[in-house]
Amino acid sequence: MRCVNWLLLWTFLLVLGPAVQGAPSQCPSLCHCHGDLQHVICDSVGLKKIPRVSEATRLLNLQRNNLGGIPTGAFSESKGLISLHMQHCQLREIGPQAFKGLNKLIYLYLSNNEISTIKPGAFEDLTELTYLYLDSNQISDLPKGIFSPMINLFILQLNNNKLRELRQGTFTGAKDLRWLHMSSNDLTTLHPGSLDDVENLAILHLDSNKMSTYPSLAMSKLRVVEELTLGKNPMRTIPDNAFQSFGRYMEKLHLDNMGLEKLSDGAFTGVTAVKSLHLDNNRLKSLPKSLQFNSITNLTLSNNLWNCTCQLAPLRRWMDSSPNRPDAVCASPNQHKGKQVRDVTDIRRCKLKPKKAKKGPRQ
Ligand SMILES: *[C@@H]1O[C@H](CO)[C@@H](O)[C@H](O)[C@H]1NC(C)=O
Ligand SMILES: *[C@@H]1O[C@H](CO)[C@@H](O)[C@H](O)[C@H]1NC(C)=O
Repeated sequence: MRCVNWLLLWTFLLVLGPAVQGAPSQCPSLCHCHGDLQHVICDSVGLKKIPRVSEATRLLNLQRNNLGGIPTGAFSESKGLISLHMQHCQLREIGPQAFKGLNKLIYLYLSNNEISTIKPGAFEDLTELTYLYLDSNQISDLPKGIFSPMINLFILQLNNNKLRELRQGTFTGAKDLRWLHMSSNDLTTLHPGSLDDVENLAILHLDSNKMSTYPSLAMSKLRVVEELTLGKNPMRTIPDNAFQSFGRYMEKLHLDNMGLEKLSDGAFTGVTAVKSLHLDNNRLKSLPKSLQFNSITNLTLSNNLWNCTCQLAPLRRWMDSSPNRPDAVCASPNQHKGKQVRDVTDIRRCKLKPKKAKKGPRQ
């Protein structure tokens, strides 16, 4: 009898013990904790593996520990997490279901790791995630649908990675994405359709990549882009209607340091609200007819090959009425070479709106 009782008691303890104790009810060793374990801070304390924290924990800061990877189920007891900080943790891979159970998580910081591979299903369960930081890693490819659990994703930071192209389906499901940062990657191609799932983007950073042609088809479904950066891509030209689908909303456009030789005459068709336009450090001689100056307050034009003839008359008129007169040096014609556009008086005498060309030569 006695023996059976002991056995029952042990069984009872084994089965219920952990639940009664409430998983890890203490601050993990080496970490410090605030507010009844709501915040667990383990910044730079030499952790080798992810500590278990209870459902009470809202914020877990694991920055600057050599963690190497995230085992499946690492956070299965941490279902209350809202903010998870894992920058500088030497993470190399994000495996399937790495964040399983974190369906309250809103902030996920994974910047400054060595992540080269994100496995399909890596972000399963992250349905509330709103802010995802993956900057400064080694990511060269994003599996189709990788962000699809993240129906609330608002900001995605992928600056400073090794992305080469964007394919259709990359952003499937992330329909609320507003800020997409992909500066300093190796992007050569944004395939048609690759941005169709994120038509509400407001900020799109694509500067410092390797695109040699403007990705018109990929951009054509975007509706409300307010800020677009394309600087430091080796593009020779910007084609007609490049920004048309979101031109009414676009306030900032960066086309600097690209080696641009020509802006197509219709490049700025539909662009009506731009305040800040950056065209410095290119090889431009002229500005296209479709460029409207009335909304512009911040314009950079330096280091180009401006041809100071009547085709710059709209620019000259804007300069005369604007408080800031940006640096813009003429490269031609010969008599104006080296002069500032603002100092060339000939241009002021140009007729601004030439009468519709009459058929046949005038006498
Ligand atoms: C113009 O834009 C540049 C680049 O965004 C910025 O650094 C600068 O402060 C702006 N200048 C003004 C006068 O707003
Ligand atoms: C400058 O513009 C004029 C007329 O607008 C054109 O005839 C000339 O060839 C242009 N010069 C250069 C160097 O492109």
